[in-house]
Amino acid sequence: MKETLQIAIDGPAGAGKSSVAKALAKRLGCIYLDTGAMYRAVTWFAMQEQVSLEDSAAMEALLEKIQLEFKEEPGGQHLYCNGVDITEAIRTTEISANVSAVAMLPSVREAMVAQQQKIAADCDVLMDGRDIGTTVLPDARYKFFLTASLEERARRRCLELQQKGIAVDLEQMKRDIALRDEKDSKRAVSPLVQAADAERIDTSDMTLEEVVEKLFAKIAK
Ligand code: DC
Repeated sequence: MKETLQIAIDGPAGAGKSSVAKALAKRLGCIYLDTGAMYRAVTWFAMQEQVSLEDSAAMEALLEKIQLEFKEEPGGQHLYCNGVDITEAIRTTEISANVSAVAMLPSVREAMVAQQQKIAADCDVLMDGRDIGTTVLPDARYKFFLTASLEERARRRCLELQQKGIAVDLEQMKRDIALRDEKDSKRAVSPLVQAADAERIDTSDMTLEEVVEKLFAKIAK
């Protein structure tokens, strides 16, 4: 098997993972895989098909029917679910509120992790998520765990949504993120946890460029 470059970036919601990962992957010339988007896509599809998350047989049948594809387009990466562009649709607060419940289902994790590992077997990748360093790519050459204070993470998420014209309340966002952190950290399968060999970086007082530079310097070295 060809040896590929694998970089894992994990951390809680709003720590800046995806912006850092996108910029860093571009600079390194490797593929960027947003694994959170995959769990969001399953959530979107389940809601679309009106499948109850508690119905495990129906969820398993749903996984058989879902075909996810990332495509590089002029404005950035887009995610398609069975041919439908769901890039924007998976970022709503409704999806954010339900995705943790989907991401804790063992059948969903098994299917998504298998797809992620398949991609990493063939090309150089940088993946961001919650379990990349611990479960998806345990042998990744570089592992980072990005964190930031709850206040700062909520502020960043609010700003992101406001830029898209979506009005949000900072205090509500703090509560939503704290709840999601708790669910992601306490689930039985692949909880959000720092890999023992990952480097922890607190980005609370850093700009996006500073974080990218720091990670790039470590990899280039
Ligand atoms: O990074 P994000 O907010 O788009 O992630 C959406 C949800 O998916 C989040 O609640 C945690 C979950 N997730 C996961 O369990 N494992 C991953 N590798 C990535 C995301």
